[in-house]
Amino acid sequence: MTERQHGFSTRAIHDGQSADATTGAVNVPIYASSTYVQEEIGKHKGYEYSRVSNPTRTALEVNFASLEGGTSAHVFASGMAAITALCTMMKTGDHIVCSDNMYGGTTRLFNQVLVNYGLEFTYVDTSNPANVEGALRPATKLVHIETPTNPMMALTDIRAVADICHNHGVELSVDNTFMSPYFQLPIRFGADIVMHSTTKFLNGHSDGLGGVLIGTSPKHAETFAFVQKCTGGILSPFECWLLLRGVKTLAVRMRQHDANGREVAIFLNHHPKVRKVFYPGLPGHPQFELAKTQMTGFGSMISFDLGSLAAANHMLKRVRLCSLAESLGGVETLISHPATMTHAAIGPEGRQKLGITDGLVRISVGIEDVEDILADLEQALTAV
Ligand SMILES: Cc1ncc(COP(=O)(O)O)c(C=O)c1O
Repeated sequence: MTERQHGFSTRAIHDGQSADATTGAVNVPIYASSTYVQEEIGKHKGYEYSRVSNPTRTALEVNFASLEGGTSAHVFASGMAAITALCTMMKTGDHIVCSDNMYGGTTRLFNQVLVNYGLEFTYVDTSNPANVEGALRPATKLVHIETPTNPMMALTDIRAVADICHNHGVELSVDNTFMSPYFQLPIRFGADIVMHSTTKFLNGHSDGLGGVLIGTSPKHAETFAFVQKCTGGILSPFECWLLLRGVKTLAVRMRQHDANGREVAIFLNHHPKVRKVFYPGLPGHPQFELAKTQMTGFGSMISFDLGSLAAANHMLKRVRLCSLAESLGGVETLISHPATMTHAAIGPEGRQKLGITDGLVRISVGIEDVEDILADLEQALTAV
């Protein structure tokens, strides 16, 4: 008889996190040790040096692999360090197809660093899977997508793109930062690798950076572990511990983010000062039907257009409860201006192509009382 798999919340709290064998401590300790005593040459308890592996990190990696439904997970010092590690699977001359609307830092890494090492990138609107197929070349090794995209909230059909990739012997990686494994499981839809900036919803408290790559094959596990060991951009035991603590409440946090997100989206959608709202949970979103099939919630990331830089600035200067800050996914509501913050690096032309106007504002709705968030937005919008 096969054992029933535990539910998401149970795995978030328990997987990788059994009580400490020596002391019985309920929580995984922070193993603040760079090295480990060996009994004799080559005889040790599985740990030799903390760049290679560390027990607090192992606990977290087991947990993340379980939540995303992968076979391995490897954590890095930030989301960008994780994407960099992912790209070390490539060799000079290899080609990567990616979403044209991604986090600006990812585009900056590709265009200003990795192209110097002979990697080639093609950016397409992956919300139409035919564009992905059209961009594939014999040298294509990877398709990398974000869904929903940052900040336009456009979706990509993961199953359709995964099928195209696999027909051509190409792997698909998905940046799942905006949804978290609670609302979207790309591996179920055929993705080969899932990546997160754990800085966001997985941590949930805006108190630590991190990144993760979840793999589905022994080759992924071997490659990402080797990159950790060779390049050293690993996550510290303290930040692994913060994540272990944060992830235990992921399910309850995400449910509240989603409930608040839906209310804020409806409020903005009816507000006379708001020209347009980008949120996959609104029936007017062009991919509302797809959202309902590949996501189990809509989350709390919303973008909205106020028409001009001046209007956005007036509003953003006036928020009191919402904090004007980069980043997302924390318990507190964060509000930001993509054109001058997260997407400054892609330049005015790049932004125009993607529809990122100067009046666009992005909100990461927190889990405060939603009435307080709405009241703050209402008073701030009177300044527009
Ligand atoms: C979707 C997405 N991917 C990757 C990153 C990069 O992550 P980090 O800031 O942890 O390096 C971010 C950061 O905002 C992001 O929003």
